[in-house]
Amino acid sequence: MRKSPLPSEITPHAIYLERRKILAQMGLGLAGALSAGAAPSALAGTGQKLTGYHPTAYGQDEKLTTYDNITTYNNFYEFGTDKEDPASHSGLLKTRPWTLTFEGALKRPRQIGVDDLMRLFPLEERIYRMRCVEAWSMVIPWVGFPLQKLIQWAEPTAQAKYVEFVSLADPAQMPGLRRAVLDWPYTEGLRMDEAQHPLTLMAVGLYGEVLPNQNGAPIRLVVPWKYGFKGIKSIVKIRFRDTMPVTSWMKANSAEYGFYSNVNPAVDHPRWSQATERRIGGGLFEARRKTLPFNGYAEEVASLYNGMDLKKYF
Ligand code: MTE
Repeated sequence: MRKSPLPSEITPHAIYLERRKILAQMGLGLAGALSAGAAPSALAGTGQKLTGYHPTAYGQDEKLTTYDNITTYNNFYEFGTDKEDPASHSGLLKTRPWTLTFEGALKRPRQIGVDDLMRLFPLEERIYRMRCVEAWSMVIPWVGFPLQKLIQWAEPTAQAKYVEFVSLADPAQMPGLRRAVLDWPYTEGLRMDEAQHPLTLMAVGLYGEVLPNQNGAPIRLVVPWKYGFKGIKSIVKIRFRDTMPVTSWMKANSAEYGFYSNVNPAVDHPRWSQATERRIGGGLFEARRKTLPFNGYAEEVASLYNGMDLKKYF
């Protein structure tokens, strides 16, 4: 792993942190929305600044995980199963042009380019706590837009009860596909009400920059009250269905990975406890944190699961 960041990486983050400081001083960091100056723009590749996104109050009080940790400690099995593999091997991923296809239970099938999507929906920054099923966590300043808006645009029919997401699976760009560690392409799913919840985000950036390839460029899902594997990366297809999709992780091991995957300290993974977590970058001596139900977002989302036995529907 690299020891120190390249100068080209330092500059945007210094600007980013300075901008946050100024916004906080102006009281705008908590004001919800700041009117956008320029229209959002993005060039392919890492280190490209996103402009015209709105700061929001989400997670303003959280200590952010460093850019270096967020972009070098990854799970993206299409590029290998070691934590450093995605940063090392995702350089070949071509993120433009990039088309998202919508199919299944909708008025008519649709396609749209990711740049058009970014022009269609105002981008906002959301700082979310992220909890991986492997019992570690991070705090990530995402830039994106609520999935809810994309769903409205796609016009699903009343038959749509679930949303299924599909990642790119191109062996020419993704060396990890050579190994059958998962049933490729990587797929995930949400119930329609989960997908339409205001916390559910489609992310196109982090730390004010275009999403690095290893974090799921050019567009990925972020569901902060669920384990990290729900956050499917490099999405090419969204399918509206009347039946529950069987996800890649459910196919790999249905005893260990259920459909809901809500963060739940009361339900252990069969091979380890989920009661506590290690904050990445916290240092050797930092105490493990207690994992919170729904990753601390219970107030917002617990009602989605009223009357459900969450030990059964894990
Ligand atoms: N999406 C795809 N396509 N392939 C993957 O292997 N890994 C998941 C999820 N999305 C994965 C994926 C897992 S296990 C986690 S914890 C998160 O991505 C990690 O996201 P991050 O690397 O941006 O922190």
